[in-house]
Amino acid sequence: MMRVDALLSRYGYCSRREAKGWVNAGRVVCQGVVVKNVNSRVEPKDVLVDGEPVPFVDGLYVALNKPIGYTCSHDEEGDLVYDLLPAQWLQRGDGVNSVGRLDKETSGLLLLTDDGAFLHALTSPKRHVPKVYEFETESPIPKDAVAQFAAGTLLLRGEKTPCAPATLRIVEPCKGELVLHEGRYHQVRRMMAAVGAPVKLLHRSAIGALRLDDLKLQPGEWVAIDPALFK
Ligand code: URA
Repeated sequence: MMRVDALLSRYGYCSRREAKGWVNAGRVVCQGVVVKNVNSRVEPKDVLVDGEPVPFVDGLYVALNKPIGYTCSHDEEGDLVYDLLPAQWLQRGDGVNSVGRLDKETSGLLLLTDDGAFLHALTSPKRHVPKVYEFETESPIPKDAVAQFAAGTLLLRGEKTPCAPATLRIVEPCKGELVLHEGRYHQVRRMMAAVGAPVKLLHRSAIGALRLDDLKLQPGEWVAIDPALFK
């Protein structure tokens, strides 16, 4: 149970101060009864605001098909992944953040949430959630990169520990798929550059059991997901 003014600000409708105006205008209904007082305590699941249920009362978990050219940041110049979400979500009390990042020039599956514990659990190096990347390279992928990546011996410039074992599949001479269990800065691009096949196109197609193709999202579209998929 929570106060109506707390609910309206927690879920991004308005500030606590503005809540009175919303309530006085009859915009908030609980179990079929118009709420008269911002101090009333309500169960968020029982509430309609402007006739609609409160979205994601138990936490926001969304998969986005990130287009090329969008940045995973709240405060940079240019197009941001957050511009692709309803503005009200960004006003939610706990904020909305991406689970890890994709480079501006990388497309594909990106998870977004307002649940800090979920975010940290999924990005923790201990979790090893597999992430699948599809890419095209500027020059043919050397066959021995498959064994080198699998062995977990590749040391990237500036790093102290070698990359964890990763599975590389050469699909065509200049096309590959790489499954990573960790998330270092620009990791796919740096690994492929290290074996002499720089990446020119990069796309993330899956995180754990969640495959972007199954979600049928156009670039820029999002869909709610069940966080239990990652338990
Ligand atoms: N590896 C990269 O190089 N870029 C990404 O966006 C993700 C993984």
